[in-house]
Amino acid sequence: MSSDPCSFSSFTRCVTKHLNLSFHLDFDRHIIRGKVELTVEALEDRFSALTLDTKDLKIISALANGQPARFSLGPKHSFKGTPLDITLPFEISRGQHVIVEVTYETSTSASALQWLTPEQTAGKKQPYLFSQCQAHHCRSMVPCQDSPSVKHTYYAQVSVPKDLVAVMSAMRDGQEDDPQDSNRTIYRFRQPVPMPSYLIAIVVGALESREIGPRSRVWSEKEFVDKAAFEFSETETMLKTAEDLVGPYVWGQYDILVLPPSFPYGGMENPCLTFATPTLLAGDKSLSDVIAHEISHSWTGNLVTNKTWEHFWLNEGHTVYLERMIGRCMKSEQFRQFDAIGGWKDLQDSVNTFGANNPLTNLVPSLQDVDPDDAFSSVPYEKGFALLYHLEELMGGPEVFMGFVKSYIQMFAYSSVTTEEWKNYLFTYFKDKVNILKKVDWNAWMFTPGMPPVKPQYDTTLADACIALSQKWIKAKDQDLSSFKKSDVKVLSSQQLTEFLSLLLHEDPLPLSHVKKMQEVYDLNAYMNSEIRFRWLRLCVRSRWEEAVPTALKMATEQGRMKFTRPLFREVYNFEKYRDEAVRVFLASQAAMHPVTSGLVAKDLKVGASNTTSL
Ligand code: BES
Ligand code: ZN
Repeated sequence: MSSDPCSFSSFTRCVTKHLNLSFHLDFDRHIIRGKVELTVEALEDRFSALTLDTKDLKIISALANGQPARFSLGPKHSFKGTPLDITLPFEISRGQHVIVEVTYETSTSASALQWLTPEQTAGKKQPYLFSQCQAHHCRSMVPCQDSPSVKHTYYAQVSVPKDLVAVMSAMRDGQEDDPQDSNRTIYRFRQPVPMPSYLIAIVVGALESREIGPRSRVWSEKEFVDKAAFEFSETETMLKTAEDLVGPYVWGQYDILVLPPSFPYGGMENPCLTFATPTLLAGDKSLSDVIAHEISHSWTGNLVTNKTWEHFWLNEGHTVYLERMIGRCMKSEQFRQFDAIGGWKDLQDSVNTFGANNPLTNLVPSLQDVDPDDAFSSVPYEKGFALLYHLEELMGGPEVFMGFVKSYIQMFAYSSVTTEEWKNYLFTYFKDKVNILKKVDWNAWMFTPGMPPVKPQYDTTLADACIALSQKWIKAKDQDLSSFKKSDVKVLSSQQLTEFLSLLLHEDPLPLSHVKKMQEVYDLNAYMNSEIRFRWLRLCVRSRWEEAVPTALKMATEQGRMKFTRPLFREVYNFEKYRDEAVRVFLASQAAMHPVTSGLVAKDLKVGASNTTSL
């Protein structure tokens, strides 16, 4: 029997089929008063007790089919939270259902939630709330079986102050005045497609929206909504391209919501409503990669889901593979190859950061007693992609391998899978080529740390210009510096400029004279594209350019996308002279940071718990 090392819930004995959520948002206390009715199916006879995941929840009452049920909270585990044991006042048989109703309140420090004051928003007038449940934070918002192995539908009704708008990862189903309070509105939602708990999502704020396609709107504070509508105008073309590759989009609506700058990820594939970082709006070409990525999750991740977080690469590796397939269709094969080169570099960065012997660099790591947030890196994305690309080459090219990916999605749609099930299906689908598949060093790919056993030979057509220019800088002596011209970078696309900077970050630090010259001729300080700015500032700090330190810390705190914020803080921390400054700036901004980001940066900067509470 499979089990989930990250969940206390008893999903071998019962499974949740449906959730009915009632939320009352309290923006004064920064809590949600919640009620959840779970429709639970027994998987065994004489079923009368279940365990749900919770984290920092105050449980007020529990009912089973309307009758009071005994409940107790177990000991708190650092990241798994607290098991909630509920005993039914009766028994049911295998296959029967019970409705378990739990009334509760969230904590002000719920790890899934960030409550923003009006001053922290663009409009400055209304407060804002957003959730981020992946991987294991849903339990701090809803008591539930918080494991991706369990799929259920959900309905929700959310009561918020009249000036605010609520949206969720579901179809919108109308609104009405709150009968309990004339100053409030109730928003209703329906998610009729079964999905795992980590995809439950909510945002409440002064939101507006614009239509951008037949099934798409963008949502954000009104300050950004026109810009967002413009930047995300390719959404429908991408959806159609994805449907041509992998079959119909089953989630009805595909909206995009642009969050405040502290949103910790680039994007999050919440069903019906992708969440996106506002850093994408700075004329950032990586925007189409991120949206292609989140759209792809509608199949790989949301329809076919990793059974536990140990199989996370099934979600992210296939999604990166599809994202790059969309790039291949909408741009070119060369472009896909160029993206793959960048991905290999990201993988090298992660392997270097974790250490090449670290078991967390396995494609399929053991997460026994490991917090999924600590394990997060490019490894499942890029080692996963590299494996799929390697198999693509072995099995006969992109068209042949897409046949497998589409068939895998059809086979496992609406369920959750392990790596073993994926691999068995691969061998079944390519039954005429098993002799080739048997030659793959599966143990090295999946259960061995470090870089993969095979390095794919990607086409370097679009990367050549970046390689040549980076080599010129690396080899340049001081007397050669006058040969660099503004036109060197003017001919590069923003993705190529990003790649050029990545290449330099993979070498020993450039002499300070070189970096200063680079600023003089290319004026990289003027670039607002976050992918470029992020790499440029790291390069400057690494070359010990003191003037770049405040700018790097500014970028680390003004936006909170962890992909940028964590390496920027680490880079300054590694500059001995400014180590204390990095810690000081972190402690000063910690209160305004997202709870997950703040926890991880604290670990990165070795700031102990005592240090943080003395604030
Ligand atoms: N699902 C992830 C984000 C995530 C992963 C949140 C694990 C919490 C835990 C999302 O699809 C993602 O991968 N985002 C990337 C986008 C990029 C790969 C294009 C990001 O945030 O950078
Ligand atoms: Zn993803």
